[in-house]
Amino acid sequence: MTNSPKMNFQRVFGTLPQTQASAPGRVNMLGEHTDYNDGFVLPTAIPQRTTVQIGFSSDARHHFYSAEYDELINFSDDDTIPQKFVTYICGCIRILEKEGYKIPPINLYITSNVPIGAGLSSSAALEIATLRGIRALLNLPLDDVRLAQIGQLAEIRYAGVNCGIMDQMASILADTNTMLFIDTRSLEYRPVPFPTGTEILVIDSGESHNLAAGSGYNQRRAECEESARILGVKALRDITDPKEVEVLPEPLKRRSRHVVTENNRVLEAVKSLPAERFGELMNSSHASQRDDYEISVPAVDALAAILQSIPGVFGARLTGGGFGGACVALVKSGKADVIASEAIDRHHRAGYSGRVLVPEVPVNS
Ligand code: GLA
Repeated sequence: MTNSPKMNFQRVFGTLPQTQASAPGRVNMLGEHTDYNDGFVLPTAIPQRTTVQIGFSSDARHHFYSAEYDELINFSDDDTIPQKFVTYICGCIRILEKEGYKIPPINLYITSNVPIGAGLSSSAALEIATLRGIRALLNLPLDDVRLAQIGQLAEIRYAGVNCGIMDQMASILADTNTMLFIDTRSLEYRPVPFPTGTEILVIDSGESHNLAAGSGYNQRRAECEESARILGVKALRDITDPKEVEVLPEPLKRRSRHVVTENNRVLEAVKSLPAERFGELMNSSHASQRDDYEISVPAVDALAAILQSIPGVFGARLTGGGFGGACVALVKSGKADVIASEAIDRHHRAGYSGRVLVPEVPVNS
């Protein structure tokens, strides 16, 4: 990602910022496509973050500058929200206003090193950094879970992704040292340690994903809701035995089987498992996403298979919304770098273009 080196808040807006805030991207270890089914998820924060500097605007409009895109966008309350990086910012402001908070015109300067299109929640990081910044600037009485809900609403209403709450909750509450277990029905959450002797590795498949309108994401959600309706439950979270979905027609049967088995995997994974068992759950999660939920693509399947075959890898799976994006692997402590280079080498030799995202590769290497 190329930050424009000469620009900063003062150069763009002619004043100093009043405050600043940041938020990380996330990688989900287990529990995929369970959050909009009232289910269980287990994300962790990644080191990459989005930072916003923020101050009051001197005119009647908002001004948003992205260092990554080197683009300044002006926005008034009556404008239609543009479909660009500002969608998420404008969406958050609109939702705050609908909730009764008056947001005066602001200047916002954004920098980020959260990878875009890799399934690591760059949009949630932007929403949460923005909401944290506005909360601090205006001293708004909103707690972290409420901010996550506002970010989720902004994404649903203005970016067209009918998403769950995992990404925003993870971005505002998770850290990089533990996993965050979230019950997306009650919104209760607690930190869970990684299995002893492990670290994580995240590799992008080189195939960018986009979950907005027209992608399979919203269709999958609709299929889950239809399944719950036929089964007579509020949400698929209420089914715990995979046999109960056998009565459904295809493809609803396979979709629901993924959700039910995935919820069961998360509930097992939080019981202080040894790394080997945690890794097996990750591998079955990948197979379930590939075969039952059908959200994987060849570049991701090749990467998962390569990772799963390398000694020192306990398990690997597609992470995030799918239809492209990255794989997360749980690996033996101290081995991430050497495993990463073998995996990348083999992925490239198979004709794909994987690249390492976590641990971060130094810029000059
Ligand atoms: C996207 C959504 C999340 C979640 C994941 C899949 O990241 O924003 O709410 O549904 O996909 O687990």
